[in-house]
Amino acid sequence: MKKKGFAIAIDGPVGVGKSTTARFVAQKLKMAYIDTGAMYRSVALYQMENGLDMNDDKSLEKSLKDIDIVIKNVKGAQRIFLNNRDVTDLIRAQEVSEGASVVAANLRVREKLVSQQRQMAGAGRVVMDGRDIGSHVLPWAQVKIYLDAALETRAKRRMLDLQAKGHDAEFDKIRKETVIRDERDKNRKHNPLIKANDAIYLNNGFMTPEETADEIILLVREREA
Ligand code: DC
Repeated sequence: MKKKGFAIAIDGPVGVGKSTTARFVAQKLKMAYIDTGAMYRSVALYQMENGLDMNDDKSLEKSLKDIDIVIKNVKGAQRIFLNNRDVTDLIRAQEVSEGASVVAANLRVREKLVSQQRQMAGAGRVVMDGRDIGSHVLPWAQVKIYLDAALETRAKRRMLDLQAKGHDAEFDKIRKETVIRDERDKNRKHNPLIKANDAIYLNNGFMTPEETADEIILLVREREA
């Protein structure tokens, strides 16, 4: 695929800090940020709120016609709208995280969202994070990063994150959910989570999101030099 614009693709498993890191990178390099996970989460929220089965391909494919997802920048912060309603906070619920990884296995869901993601990236300057960005959505991205950290580290980060937001969060439960979501994301048939051949592997187990972002920016500068 031909190069368009300038894109940084950041992929990796659950809880590795992709969104926080990607947001820092985008801010520091004055690029747009696109959180593709939020789009799969919105599809899951739609199924949940309408009492529809996340695992039912027919139902999902029917829902797609009624699902309109828009990512907007509101006062400098990214907000996500599902059928004109701001669902930015709702999609962070635990059941939605679980559901997102289920609906993401459906080929038609992926086709719709991937096509929208490519359109959004267009010929602009974007940082996009997800599972299949370097391998499938923007294979032409000039910089591809595969972020990783040990399971225990990622589960602990998620636990602290949830606790900071005032939710009950028990380590063992979160650890189990993390394993299940990772397994599903890595083993699905269509565009599973993989490290693209030309992606740089970065283990951020002992790094803060800001340090991870600085490391990525260094790599970007090296590529540009
Ligand atoms: O990054 P996240 O936790 O917000 O993503 C939620 C789910 O969406 C994740 O479990 C898998 C799916 N997803 C995907 O399949 N492809 C992407 N590009 C982004 C997310």
